[in-house]
Amino acid sequence: MDIDFSGKAYLVTGGASGIGAAVVHYLARHGGNVVVADINDEAGRQLVDTYPEQVAYHHTDVTDFAALEEACALAAQRFGRLDGAVNSAGIGSLGNTLEIPLEDWRKVIDIDLHGVFHACRAALPLMLKSGGGSIVNIASISGVRGDHGFAAYNAAKAGVINYSRTLGLDHAKDNIRANAVCPGLIETPLTAVPISIDEVRNDWISRIPLGRAGSPEDVAHLVVFLLSPAASYINGTAIVIDGGMGSSNNQPNLPGIIADMGG
Ligand SMILES: NC(=O)c1ccc[n+]([C@@H]2O[C@H](COP(=O)([O-])OP(=O)(O)OC[C@H]3O[C@@H](n4cnc5c(N)ncnc54)[C@H](O)[C@@H]3O)[C@@H](O)[C@H]2O)c1
Repeated sequence: MDIDFSGKAYLVTGGASGIGAAVVHYLARHGGNVVVADINDEAGRQLVDTYPEQVAYHHTDVTDFAALEEACALAAQRFGRLDGAVNSAGIGSLGNTLEIPLEDWRKVIDIDLHGVFHACRAALPLMLKSGGGSIVNIASISGVRGDHGFAAYNAAKAGVINYSRTLGLDHAKDNIRANAVCPGLIETPLTAVPISIDEVRNDWISRIPLGRAGSPEDVAHLVVFLLSPAASYINGTAIVIDGGMGSSNNQPNLPGIIADMGG
């Protein structure tokens, strides 16, 4: 898939790693300009070294609105415009309502939900000046349904999905589209530890009809499609990309059981 992003500029939060980094690579290889907003300075600077003309880096904690305003000011200064934002910065959480430490709950909501709002609020004024564009917020299938022991993450990602809908409604008149992308299991540093455990990996993969975890590039392809004019009528929605995992009612595989029984 080849989409030309020449002359365009984007903000990518969490762009130093995983899904965000795959988006940055795609955009830069296809002529686009990017401001990477992340707290992983080393990985951010490596992207700048790889694409010195097209990628700028700003140390940005997404919980800090002023830092996002600075990242957008850098886009204005370096590239003179902003055509969209991909909000991928995020962390996971562990623990149900009784287990999760209060400070962990607040941290996850602060990064995964407030961080998306901060980035959109900072990006919109420059996008308006640039004539519009497209925002893609990276939510999760964990925002669509519940998971065992992911209380804060489930709450934050559901918030990102519904916030993306309202963003799409509010700014359609400004020629700005906004959508959420909801990945399932993707192999990135975020999931590296749990899926390094064979039992966890095998169980997880067995629930995915396509029989594999997704790659960051799988998600990046959907994201850049949503950024592009090819997606010009897609607005205010949430798109699941999970290899089919969420399509199941989780009922027993009756034909499989019968076959195993020799019938
Ligand atoms: N990997 C998966 O299976 C999966 C599934 C569904 C959704 N997601 C979501 O995709 C997004 C990207 O995750 P990933 O898998 O690429 O993980 P990742 O850990 O590879 O990348 C996350 C990036 O966010 C950055 N970050 C973390 N806290 C930050 C903060 N306070 N301010 C700025 N940057 C911060 C990290 O430095 C990192 O570069 C996240 O929002 C995650 O919740 C991932």
